[in-house]
Formats: sequence, structure tokens, C-alpha cells
Amino acid sequence: LGLVSVPLWEQERLRIAAGSTLRPGGFSLTDRAAEVIGLLPGWRVLDVGCGLGATVERLRSRFGAQAWGIEVSDTQIARIQGVSGIIQACGDVLPFVSDSFDALYCECVFSLFPDQKKGLDEFWRVLKPNGFLVLSDLYSLDDSKIESFSCAGRAVPVLQTHEAVEKKGFFVRLLEDHSPYLKELAAKIIWAGNDENEACARRLGYYLMISQKQGAFHAG
Ligand SMILES: C[S@@+](CC[C@H](N)C(=O)[O-])C[C@H]1O[C@@H](n2cnc3c(N)ncnc32)[C@H](O)[C@@H]1O
Repeated sequence: LGLVSVPLWEQERLRIAAGSTLRPGGFSLTDRAAEVIGLLPGWRVLDVGCGLGATVERLRSRFGAQAWGIEVSDTQIARIQGVSGIIQACGDVLPFVSDSFDALYCECVFSLFPDQKKGLDEFWRVLKPNGFLVLSDLYSLDDSKIESFSCAGRAVPVLQTHEAVEKKGFFVRLLEDHSPYLKELAAKIIWAGNDENEACARRLGYYLMISQKQGAFHAG
């Protein structure tokens, strides 16, 4: 029973399957996005929902970024080892002043936000003009949504996310399907969150979306 109440990303079996990156694709999409946006040494980058801090470390060691992470979970925060610059906070109330970052990563987290509009408002606020938003996440291949706190249960069609991002005023520069990474990870574990049957009942994919904050104009 204890296992069922613990979200998948806090379970040992995900760490065994995925290592320190708690998402499909590991660093592949992190690196791909960094290359697409032309991430340069010294850029200020925030990783929202940073899990164990693997991306924060990666962005520093491979790309020379000044990187920070925020993570909401006590359990994850307690597990982070040897990574500085991680702050405990919720992704839709970011403890940073406006126009702080050149890029913001949110990997396999956005579908978990209880209020995605509020999340996008915060992403927009803390990004500098022309800053990049890198989202990667699960999406569903149908319109149904399950009232659930698992990644699988809360996934929505990718076009819904695309529309919300554009409505906020971001310009979507790249949208790619990377569902094979999800299949690869699902082959090692059952991608389930709180309810394995719910995940199995859904048709899911995985996307990478890169958007840019447009100049100084602000869409409400
Ligand atoms: C599937 S894990 C991905 C972790 C990390 N991004 C990675 O790819 O390794 C989802 C993470 O998002 C965190 N999380 C969920 N909702 C959040 C929120 N509203 N704000 C910040 N973090 C959140 C969870 O605690 C968990 O660590």
C-alpha cells in the first residue's frame, strides 16, 4: 500500500530504470534543446521541477551555464546530493525577480501543474525578452483526462499545450515527437504514477517543444 501512494518519480524502480534523470530520453532532449537554442556559457538557466538536479549539473558541466533548479517535493530535495543552487519552491510561484533567465527548462513536469496558466504566467515573467522555454512532457493521443496526480493520468493532447503556450504570447519554434523514448523507458518500468491500470488504459506520447518569449509585448 505504501508503494501505491508514492508517485512514480519518487519510487526506487524509476531511479533504477532511468538513473538520475527521471524522464524519458535522459539527457538526449536536454542536450538537443540546448543545441537548438544555442545555449552559450554564462547563460542563466532555470530548471523547474528539477527532481534530483541532474539537468542543473548537465547544463553547467556540458554547456557552461549558470544554472539553478527549483523542486517542490521534500523527498526529492532530501535526495539531492552535491548539487548547489537548488531551491524548494512550486513551479507556479517562482522565487526569482522578473526577466532573470535566458532559458527555462521544464522536463516531464508541466502536466503535473494544477494550474498550467499560472505556470506559464510565471515562466513568462522570469524569462528575459527573447528567452527560451524548453518543455518536454507526456501527451495523450485522445481528449480524455483522468483526475489523477500521475504524469500518465494528467497528460493532455500536445496541441492543447501548444495553444496554451501561444496564447501566453510565446512563439513556438520547434515541436517534435519523441515517443520512442517513452516506449524505451516503459519497457524498463511500467509508466504508471499512482495507478498502473490508468496508464495502461491511455495512449501516450512524449514531446519536445521549444518556444521563445517575444520582445516586450505581453499577452494576458
Ligand atoms: C517525472 S519527475 C521529473 C524530474 C526532473 N525534471 C527530471 O526530468 O529528472 C517530476 C518532478 O516534478 C516535481 N514537481 C511536480 N509538480 C511540481 C510543481 N508544481 N512545481 C515544482 N516541481 C514539481 C516532482 O516533485 C518531481 O520531482
